[in-house]
Amino acid sequence: MKKVVKKAVFPVAGLGTRFLPATKASPKEMLPIVDKPLIQYAVEEAVAAGIDVLVFITSRTKRPIEDHFDKAYELETELANRGKTDILRIVQNILPAHVNCVYIRQAEALGLGHAVNCARSVIGDEPFAVLLADDMIDDGQTGCLSQMIGIFDEWQCSVLGVERIDPADTHSYGIVRANPIHQGLGKLEGIVEKPKPEHAPSNLAVVGRYILTPTIFDKLDKVTRGAGGEIQLTDAIAALLHEEPVLAYEFFGKRYDCGSKLGYLMATVEQGLKHEELRDSFKAYLAKLSLD
Ligand code: UTP
Repeated sequence: MKKVVKKAVFPVAGLGTRFLPATKASPKEMLPIVDKPLIQYAVEEAVAAGIDVLVFITSRTKRPIEDHFDKAYELETELANRGKTDILRIVQNILPAHVNCVYIRQAEALGLGHAVNCARSVIGDEPFAVLLADDMIDDGQTGCLSQMIGIFDEWQCSVLGVERIDPADTHSYGIVRANPIHQGLGKLEGIVEKPKPEHAPSNLAVVGRYILTPTIFDKLDKVTRGAGGEIQLTDAIAALLHEEPVLAYEFFGKRYDCGSKLGYLMATVEQGLKHEELRDSFKAYLAKLSLD
C-alpha cells in the first residue's frame, strides 16, 4: 500500500543568533514578512500540501509560536465587539479546523538532527516532512512541499529539496552529490555538511525542505556531534542513503534565506511588492527612493 505524508515537523528551537538582539526574547520564526510571521508561511505551505499534524520542536523563548496558532479569546471578543469582522476572520482562520498542533520541547539546542529526533514519538512509523521556516519559498502555486510530496507519492522514498547555489557559499549548506534521473531529479550518492568550496562535491545545496522515511530516526540515534559541534541531520541522511534510496529534487520557485538579514529584507521587499493592499503604494515609494 502506498504511504502518504500527513505529518510535518517544524524545528523552531534554534537560537537565532544572526538576528540578535531581535531574537533575544522572541522567536526568529515570528519575524513578520509584511503582515504574517515566517512560521505561518511555512505552516500554510504544509497545509496546502495536505499535512494535518504539525509538530513544532520548541524551546524556552518560543511560546509566542504556540499562542499564534491557538485561539485568542480576548482579542477575538474585542474584534467582534468592535465589528471588525474582516480582521476577526483573518485571526480565526490561521489554521483550518482539521489541522492539529503538537509542541515538543528541545531542552538544549544540540542541532537540527537532534531537534528532528525529538519528534520521533509523535511521528511513529510514517514518512514525514521537515520544514525550516527561515527558508521561505514562493513558487506562485501550491508550494514547494506540494511539489516534493508529488515526488514522494511516485517514488516512496526520502526526498530533499535542493537548489543550485553560488559555489563560493557551500560552507553555509549541506551539499549533495547526485546521479541525475531526469531534469531536476537525482539519486543521492553523497551528502556533506558545510564543506569548503574546494571540498564540495557540487553546488547543489539542501535547503529547508525534507521528506524523510522513519528509518532516519535509527540513524539519528547513532549520529554524534558533527559540524559546529551539533547533531546534524545531514550526517543521519548520509547514513540513510546506504540503506534506502534518497532523492534530491530541484524545486521550482524562489527561496529567501530569511535566517540572514539580507535574505529577510529581500523577502520583505518582494512580498511587499506582491501584497494586494500595498503593492501600488510600495512600488511608488521604491521608485521615488531610487530617484532621490
Ligand atoms: P540555524 O542553523 O538557522 O540556526 O538552524 P538558528 O539557531 O535558527 O539561527 P542562527 O544561525 O543562530 O542565526 C536551522 C533550523 O534548525 C532549527 C532552527 O530553529 C532553524 O529552523 N534548530 C537548530 C533547532 O530547532 N534546534 C537546534 O538545536 C538547532
